[in-house]
Amino acid sequence: MAKPSRILVVDDELGPREALRLILQDHYEISTAQNGHQALDYLSKNEFDLVILDIRMPDVNGIDLLAEVKKKVPETEVVMITAYASVDTAASALRLGALDYLIKPFDRKAVMEVVEKGLSRRAESRKIRSRLDELQLANKTLRREIEKAFVNIQRHYLETVRSLVAAIDAKDSYTKSHQERVVMFAMLLGAELGLSAGEIDVLRQAAVLHDIGKIGVPEQILRKPEHLISEEFDIIRQHPVIGAEIISPVRFLSEVVQIVLHHHERFDGTGYPDGLKGAEIPLGARILAVADAVDAMLSDRPYARARTVAEVREELRRCSGTQFDPQLVKIALKIDLPSRRIT
Ligand SMILES: [Fe+2]
Repeated sequence: MAKPSRILVVDDELGPREALRLILQDHYEISTAQNGHQALDYLSKNEFDLVILDIRMPDVNGIDLLAEVKKKVPETEVVMITAYASVDTAASALRLGALDYLIKPFDRKAVMEVVEKGLSRRAESRKIRSRLDELQLANKTLRREIEKAFVNIQRHYLETVRSLVAAIDAKDSYTKSHQERVVMFAMLLGAELGLSAGEIDVLRQAAVLHDIGKIGVPEQILRKPEHLISEEFDIIRQHPVIGAEIISPVRFLSEVVQIVLHHHERFDGTGYPDGLKGAEIPLGARILAVADAVDAMLSDRPYARARTVAEVREELRRCSGTQFDPQLVKIALKIDLPSRRIT
């Protein structure tokens, strides 16, 4: 058999308390409180389906107690008791969430009707609450699954991008070893600068992917032995934007995207694609610009022979504040560059 519903009767007068007990005790589990404080104490320790409250009590006003009960357990149904039908008091009780009111002396039938109404409403709100809980749980699970699927899609995308890098590397051995050395040199600069492990990781990913946009540049332009004409240079200049577009769908690469996009900006604002200046250029992009240029200078390229370490150092000094961040040049000059030419 289902557990009987629990009802708390709160009235400072013994007569009405006992009258209600007598009417209700055969059907429900009845507790009684003689004053507001006792009622609050009971309510904090037990769960009641219905509370029947006297509006007038010496210690706590019934209307205040009603508000308190509704605050503690909003689903609790409350019926007010009044000695005479005062429209004002009844109205304010109903406004505060009371279900109904009973007038002393009690009419057995009216009491049973109001109590049954209250209890069925309580059962209804319990059902709604548990349905809501179920929905919330299902919602949470669904969210988690969507999040997981999203991360998986992103991971697959990143794998595709990585295999693209590998495909470009396989075609062009210069690119592969260049990329590896740019990664290494960027790491050294980052470590000297005291970047956090997380920042170094972003920098590493950016260094790996920085030239991925070159996939959109025709090979004959990339490998052209002579200097480029201006139209060809315009095409080359698009590679940071193309690269950023390729990796931008990967949410956890958002910082990497900014570095890739700006790795050809110059400290004095004359670089591309946006002509950003000084600290407007993300730090990672400024680091990458130095690492990229140092390695390019140390390598034989289609249109230029490799420079010596001394020449590279001189070039870094010469371009400090124009092409490169002066603070980074200072740090780069402290790092031992490979003393042999890299081809
Ligand atoms: Fe580049």
